[in-house]
Amino acid sequence: MKPEEFLSLFEEKRKEAEKTVLSRLPEIEGYQREVLEALDYGVRSGGKRLRPLMMKEAFIMFGGEDPAIDDFMAAIEFIHNYSLIHDDLEAMDNDEYRRGIKTTHAVYGEGMGVLAGDALLNLVYEITSRSVLSAPDHDTMKRRALAQHILADKAGVYGMVGGQSADLTAEKKGEASEELLLFMDEKKTACLMEASLMAGAALSGASDEEIRALEECGSAMGQAFQIMDDILDVTGDQAETGKDAGSDEKNGKITYVTLYGLDECRRKVDELTDKAVDILGSTGRECGFLTALVRYLSGRRK
Ligand code: IPE
Ligand code: IPE
Ligand code: MG
Ligand code: MG
Ligand code: MG
Repeated sequence: MKPEEFLSLFEEKRKEAEKTVLSRLPEIEGYQREVLEALDYGVRSGGKRLRPLMMKEAFIMFGGEDPAIDDFMAAIEFIHNYSLIHDDLEAMDNDEYRRGIKTTHAVYGEGMGVLAGDALLNLVYEITSRSVLSAPDHDTMKRRALAQHILADKAGVYGMVGGQSADLTAEKKGEASEELLLFMDEKKTACLMEASLMAGAALSGASDEEIRALEECGSAMGQAFQIMDDILDVTGDQAETGKDAGSDEKNGKITYVTLYGLDECRRKVDELTDKAVDILGSTGRECGFLTALVRYLSGRRK
C-alpha cells in the first residue's frame, strides 16, 4: 500500500471510529453534570482512535457481521481514555497537556478526574452487558460475552491496571530490571491493543487459535508502541505529540530509553514490528491495512 493511500484510509477510518465512539457518550445533565462534562471533555479531545480502529479491522478480517461491534469499539476507547485521564493525575504522571489541550484533571480538578475515569469504566460495563443481553441468539450472545470477558481481563489487575501499578513501583524504587520493564510495557500498553484485536475477532466468530494469534500480534505491536512512546517522550516535539515533553525524566521514570539508549530502542521497535507483521501474515487473511498501520506506527511522530 502506497503511503498516501494509507494516510487517507487511516484518516477515513479514524473519523469513522471517532463518530462511533462519540455517539455512545452520555447526555450531560442532572446534578452529576460536572463529572459528565469532565468525561465528555476527555473523550472528545481527539487522539488517534487506534484501538477501536484496530478492533474493527480484526472484525472485518474474520468476516464479522454483528452490529454490536460499534458498542465494543466505544467500550475499548472509553477504557483507553479512562486510563489516560487517570495516568495524567497528579498522583500518577502529573501531566498538564494531552492531545494538544489541558488534561482533564487540569481543567476539572483531581477529584473530577478520578470520577470521570471511574464513570467511563462503568459505562463500558453498562454498554457491553446491554449488548450481551440483547443478543438475538445464543451464538451471538456467547461471542459478545467472550468479547466482554476479553476487555475485562485485559483492562484489569492482570492487564493495564497491573502494568500501571508496576510502572509506579519502578518509579518509586528508581530501578528496574529488563523483566520488570517487559512486564510493565506488556501490561500497561500492549494489553489494550491485544484486547482490541481479540475482541474484534471474537465478535466475528474467529476460532480460539485465530484469537490467540491476534493476541500475540497485539502484544508485539503494543510493546513497540510503548517503546516508541518512550522515545517520543525524549525526542518528540510537544507541538506534534500534544503531550508534555520530558514527562518521564521529570518523574524519574525507568523506561527502555533510560535502560538501553535510543539506538537499542529503535532496533527493538523494528524487531517487534516485524514480528507483528509476520503474525498478521500467518493468519492467511486479508490484512493489508493493519499491516500498513503496524509499519506506520513504528515511525510515528505523535
Ligand atoms: C497513549 O496512547 C498512551 C500509551 C499507551 C502510550 P495513544 O498514543 O494511543 O493516545 P491517543 O489516544 O492517540 O491520544
Ligand atoms: C501510559 O504510559 C499507559 C497508560 C495510560 C495505560 P505513559 O504514561 O507513558 O503514557 P503517556 O505518555 O502519558 O501517554
Ligand atoms: Mg504513565
Ligand atoms: Mg503518562
Ligand atoms: Mg509516555
